[in-house]
Amino acid sequence: MEQNQINLIELERMFDDLAVNNWASSASVFSKDFCQKLAQECQRLHDEGQFHQASIGRGVTKSTHTEIRGDFTLWLDEKNNSPLQQSFLSHLQTLLEQLNQSFYLGLKRFETHFALYPPGAGYDKHIDNHRGSGARKITFILYLNEHWQKGHGGELSLYQPDQENVLITQIEPTLGTFVLFRSDLFPHQVEKSFQPRLSITGWFRDDAS
Ligand code: OGA
Ligand code: MN
Repeated sequence: MEQNQINLIELERMFDDLAVNNWASSASVFSKDFCQKLAQECQRLHDEGQFHQASIGRGVTKSTHTEIRGDFTLWLDEKNNSPLQQSFLSHLQTLLEQLNQSFYLGLKRFETHFALYPPGAGYDKHIDNHRGSGARKITFILYLNEHWQKGHGGELSLYQPDQENVLITQIEPTLGTFVLFRSDLFPHQVEKSFQPRLSITGWFRDDAS
């Protein structure tokens, strides 16, 4: 694994924010070169037809509603992926251990997928913890859009816990922007995107697989 793909000092700084605000954002945790490679891989796998329309709910309530959630996803799988994805997964394992050291979260594993929102897609306001299950503790998102501009839409809107109409911030999905937040607290929404919008999203969980 190349150490210069991830900046652990910047990660520490993010953790300081996370401790105070329960969310944090940084543009320099992952190197630009590494993010560009992930972006290329995401686009290629999408173009090869490997992504699937994302669904909402789970079990018997699982269904697709493109008007609520319009992205296409591909789960990263330990057993079946490239050296590039392997190094991303090993960085996430490092992150999991650091989160446990700093916040005593008892995290045991993570799940993560590439996501691509085609033009016109978004994701309505929601909380990431599935109802009746508190296993998702920390949400992370790494954005992979090199030439993003303001008019392209696709911002991540974060709302106040318990006050879902009070906007805290809007984050642009530009290449290398990395976001962490408590999965059980923050209502959030992906604004309608006018360009294809690429990212890797995932969750650190405290249940065993
Ligand atoms: C999600 C989600 C936010 C984003 O996949 O649950 O909220 O900015 N993604 O992609
Ligand atoms: Mn979400």
